Amino acid sequence: MALRKIREIGEDVLNQVCKEVTEVTPRTIELIEDMLETMYSTGGVGLAAPQVGVRKRIVVIDVTGDDPIVMINPKIIETSGEQTGMEGCLSVPGKCGQVTRPNYVKAIAYDEELKPYEIEGTELLARAICHELDHLEGKLYVDLVEGDLLDNEPPEEE
Ligand code: NI
Repeated sequence: MALRKIREIGEDVLNQVCKEVTEVTPRTIELIEDMLETMYSTGGVGLAAPQVGVRKRIVVIDVTGDDPIVMINPKIIETSGEQTGMEGCLSVPGKCGQVTRPNYVKAIAYDEELKPYEIEGTELLARAICHELDHLEGKLYVDLVEGDLLDNEPPEEE
């Protein structure tokens, strides 16, 4: 495993739509392991493949620190409610801003064996799923910020 370099706002790869994963190769597994290691090393709660320069539909999330979630080709299939709170992103260092997201999200995704599964989340997990899946569409939270983007270390890095 190895740490990967985090791409920052302004780099093209963060504004591009990512490609579906059609097979999981040893290289894919290495990418996922590196993404997890990179996420944990930065204290982040989520990381999407384009943030390490790879234009593939893969995200990793862990909002508790001991429950890694790997999502391949994820799709949100249901949302409800609303939450408004501060959000940050490893690709936008030193900034945070207020974003409104659904308070509940249900998604489908594939695991490392390309087996489909469903996942439900509320609060921070729902927020992390929305934030990371946006990365796969080439979208950053900064375009959703209500009010100003603030010069602050975010309370949680997503
Ligand atoms: Ni992010």
